[in-house]
Amino acid sequence: MKIAIASDHGGLNLREEIKGLMDEMGIEYEDFGCECEASVDYPDYALPVAEKVAGGEFDKGILICGTGIGMSISANKVKGIRCALVHDVFSAKATREHNDSNILAMGERVIGPGLAREIAKVWLSTDFEGGRHENRVGKITAYETK
Ligand code: RB5
Repeated sequence: MKIAIASDHGGLNLREEIKGLMDEMGIEYEDFGCECEASVDYPDYALPVAEKVAGGEFDKGILICGTGIGMSISANKVKGIRCALVHDVFSAKATREHNDSNILAMGERVIGPGLAREIAKVWLSTDFEGGRHENRVGKITAYETK
């Protein structure tokens, strides 16, 4: 599994935390910035990561900003992306099992690093359930391609 990760200035610290988690989990990843604490625009980081995941270059993505909202709105504009904004462990598991979400968004200003690590750990290690959910996700894909 190969993960693309990025954040804006509002998600810098949490991005480092999640990279540390992926190191511990032995998960391969590539960091797409941002590079500094200066104010940047979240779509400039969300859209390239979303395109890389949608294009198959990466299996999944993780996007972090202050709230996670800007990143998730931006990423979901890219066809094939199902970006879930998650701030609890139950939803992290459910969105993988039911929605086959391929990008996880979180907000560094919303939750602490401990909870964020648990969310990412569960999200990264839970598989899509398929079955009745396959049909539902398929309807989203069909809408995008019509
Ligand atoms: C940046 O101040 C902040 O707006 C951004 O990180 C994010 O929360 C946007 O949704």
